[in-house]
Amino acid sequence: MIIAPSLLAANYGRLASEVARHKASGAEWLHLDIMDGHFVPNLSFGPGIVKTLRPLTRTFFDVHLMCSKPEVLLPLFADAGADQITVHVELGERVAHLLWKIRSLGLKVGLAVNPPTQLATVRPYLPQIDTLLIMTVNPGFGGQEFIEECLPKIQQAHTWRTSGPHRFHIEVDGGINERTARECARAGADVFVAGTALFGKPNLKAAVARLRRAVEQ
Ligand code: DX5
Ligand code: ZN
Repeated sequence: MIIAPSLLAANYGRLASEVARHKASGAEWLHLDIMDGHFVPNLSFGPGIVKTLRPLTRTFFDVHLMCSKPEVLLPLFADAGADQITVHVELGERVAHLLWKIRSLGLKVGLAVNPPTQLATVRPYLPQIDTLLIMTVNPGFGGQEFIEECLPKIQQAHTWRTSGPHRFHIEVDGGINERTARECARAGADVFVAGTALFGKPNLKAAVARLRRAVEQ
């Protein structure tokens, strides 16, 4: 099981100490939510910030691009030190090329699917990806309520994974806490992103341990 605290819920006024808090927490990945004010109605931060954080930790940088034009951003995030970049299946027919481009930059490849989008849309890309990110809120803001209707998607993806030739992580993102993470783990998820329930807590290490206990039961 992989725990991925989202920096979106960290204190942007002291990012270096937030990364230090992550480092001491035992979490495997750091989830970096990139919003462009177009694909989602919010802005977060860009490759410049990611690049300044890179020397502070060796942790896996899981970059989630909620952006309409990833074409121009992929090389910038690769240069900034991303380990994996995830793009959204809602971008349509450009997706195959984007996934290929991420791979050709030497990175792990992720594909995300929003709650209203049919899971079948990701199926053609399974041979190309390392991680399938099943959004459990409509992206754009932290602190939203988990959408229970997303659970069958996790089960379906898990069935594809166990019955087919392709191995990929099933990552969940949005409204993840101890209760919802446990439900997702039972459905087959193995990477858990959380902002509010992790960086949002004063003791990140204890929060990571609690979430891990919830999903490993
Ligand atoms: C949603 C982002 C999430 C967000 C999760 O737009 O992709 O990663 O930070 O935040 P919480 O855990 O607060 O729902
Ligand atoms: Zn995210």
